[in-house]
Amino acid sequence: MAKFIIKGGKPLFGEIAIAGAKNAASKMLVASLLTPAPVILENVPVIGDVDIVFELLRNIGSKIDAAASTVQIETPEIKHNKVGQLSRRNRIPILALGPLLARTGEAEVPVLGGDKIGPRPVDIHLEGLSKLGAQIEITKTSFHAWAPKGLHGAEIELRFPSVGATENIMLAAVLAHGKTVIKNAALEPEIMDLVKLLQKMGAIIELCPPRTITIEGVKQLHGATHRVMSDRNEAVSFACLAIATNGRIVLHGASQDHLITFLNVVWRLGGEFEIRNNSIAFWRARDLAPLAIRTDVQPGYMTDWQQPLGVLLTQANGVSTIHETIYEDRFAYALDLNEMGAKIKISTECPPNDPCRLAGKGAYHFATIEGPTTLTSKNLIVRDLRSGMVDLLAALVANGVSEVDGVEEIDRGYENMDERLRALGADITRG
Ligand code: EPU
Repeated sequence: MAKFIIKGGKPLFGEIAIAGAKNAASKMLVASLLTPAPVILENVPVIGDVDIVFELLRNIGSKIDAAASTVQIETPEIKHNKVGQLSRRNRIPILALGPLLARTGEAEVPVLGGDKIGPRPVDIHLEGLSKLGAQIEITKTSFHAWAPKGLHGAEIELRFPSVGATENIMLAAVLAHGKTVIKNAALEPEIMDLVKLLQKMGAIIELCPPRTITIEGVKQLHGATHRVMSDRNEAVSFACLAIATNGRIVLHGASQDHLITFLNVVWRLGGEFEIRNNSIAFWRARDLAPLAIRTDVQPGYMTDWQQPLGVLLTQANGVSTIHETIYEDRFAYALDLNEMGAKIKISTECPPNDPCRLAGKGAYHFATIEGPTTLTSKNLIVRDLRSGMVDLLAALVANGVSEVDGVEEIDRGYENMDERLRALGADITRG
């Protein structure tokens, strides 16, 4: 296992370019399977998760030409519609079912991996694909689907606006016969970016408030060029880092459009930001105030943002709360922070008067954070991608030297993190 050795306690100053969004780029790579023509994606992050999708696509028969962040994918022919095990796992392969069904009538992809943040079922994906006419068999190692007569449009109401299920149904519906209506769809910016690519490829997709996506199936799609949106999760992590270390970091490529909810939180907390043409600078304006946060689907406060904020709230003056309503198990990082000196309590109960879908499930999804606390260094083992970033943040805030082990998980989602942090003045080496 690779590790980072970090001497913390220094304010970080400087400028950084935010990479392309992992959770948009990875889906767009899969979308390229919908056409035999070349799809060119710019601003693709150079990260482990993208490599996993490259492996999936190469197994299917795609030619991939990747020069740094610009990637051309061309799949003139689906050579293999059944993909066995990949060398590593993430949550993307299930999204290839729709494109493979559209082009060959059959598809098999490996079961999913991804972060250990709760059960993460895919029942809504599979129900959606079934409504479009796919027959699906789940084995121990794979999802096997077939639709010999092709997929057809359908009206599908999601019982929860799942990001992955919305994407999966959309990728299957763009080439299906007739019209598909997805009600209670997820509308995260990464999904809107995927819609933009699909529209450039010839898809007809309409968005109707409050949460309906209508897709008019077309016979074929063509190639397109698209620049992937910047990674709003990475932007939030660096913003929290600037405020937590009492430094100032300018994020080039960060987009206000994708950060509106977070920026409100920065004002309330006592952070400050300045928005210029294509950048946002973050710093601390005053002593930090405690907050009550509830994670939610778009346009709410995003679940991936609660972890870096959790570190920041250990530095606020008073008691903060975070109510996580998306994932059942996303507070494991609190155990590490507590060993570093934080005072975080996690509970299975929702806060009074705010029940959520995780109520009564025994899920540790509500945190109370008492601040301010001085963090001291500790050797940490990365639990998953986003909490790996928490480990980095905590180690950079803490006094003393920490070792963060298992940084391959961080590399799965963030580009050259050690090098970029060094450019901000961090004392970090890869061992
Ligand atoms: N859910 C179901 N059934 C389903 C699908 C979802 O019950 O079929 C429920 C589960 O409770 C699940 C929750 O909905 O835990 C959220 O799942 P969703 O499908 O919305 O999320 P996802 O597609 O699995 C993506 C991102 C996550 C991000 C969430 C929320 C990717 C690859 N992952 O996950 O990002 O947190 O949306 O915005 O796009 C990360 O990047 O580290 C990460 C976890």
